[in-house]
Amino acid sequence: MGKRIAVVLAAGKGTRMQSEMPKVLFPVLGRPMIEFVLDALREVGVEKIVCVVGYRADDVRQALAGHSDVVFVEQTEQLGTGHAVQMCVDELKSVDGNVVVLAGDSPLVQPSSLKELFEAFESGGHACLLGTLKRENPTGLGRIVRDADGIFEGIVEEKDATPEQRAINEVNMSTYVFAAPRLVEALGRLSNENAQGEYYLTDCPKILKGLGDKVDALPVLKACEAYSINSREQLAEVERVMSEIGYNAS
Ligand code: UD1
Ligand code: MG
Repeated sequence: MGKRIAVVLAAGKGTRMQSEMPKVLFPVLGRPMIEFVLDALREVGVEKIVCVVGYRADDVRQALAGHSDVVFVEQTEQLGTGHAVQMCVDELKSVDGNVVVLAGDSPLVQPSSLKELFEAFESGGHACLLGTLKRENPTGLGRIVRDADGIFEGIVEEKDATPEQRAINEVNMSTYVFAAPRLVEALGRLSNENAQGEYYLTDCPKILKGLGDKVDALPVLKACEAYSINSREQLAEVERVMSEIGYNAS
């Protein structure tokens, strides 16, 4: 088993929260939401967590200053999730192992799902494996495109999707495992020619598949992992779900 490291995306402002506070620091059950993500990573044996900060970077650094396994990388301009991970290339090149990439706005990520993904990845010889789930209402999320035989083809963002693709209800929750060198390879090939003019991390799986790598999407995520936080309504919803499944307020 290779070394397990993580990249956590936390550079965005979180415009839809309508606050000056960086989204990942918003309290969920009394703790900054990103801490739940860090907890889940430690539970599956991740040794080093590279946290991408940008908007109010010093606030995020300060809030996480007591976490000795977290290192910070700065993304000064938020040009997309792929661009955020591009900022980590030096860190990625210095490790020989597997990288899990998560978003800091998804505090309901489950260690059991990460464990399942890592195990499938490590025994399967993949370059990239992502965790997915089906959602009744997939609005706003990246869709998982498969061919007629169900073979994974890629992720399409809602804003770039055709009407047929928008009808797909298997979604991307930003839960990926990559072989570090293959992630570096894919990041070097990203373009921002899409509806949002951003460098999308979501293009990496398709890029690697195009290079002949083994890439797959596994529907291993649990129903509770369908929630990420982009608005205050979603934050309230996440707190409700957490209370229901037994997270304790602190
Ligand atoms: C992203 C995914 C989408 C997925 C959804 C929920 C992409 C292109 N799309 O969309 O497929 O369904 O998450 O998991 O990845 N961030 C940075 N730097 C940036 C941009 C974003 O660090 O330049 C961070 C944000 O702080 C946040 C995370 O990345 O923690 C996700 O960004 P967000 O803007 O919420 O992406 P979505 O539009 O939700
Ligand atoms: Mg989001």
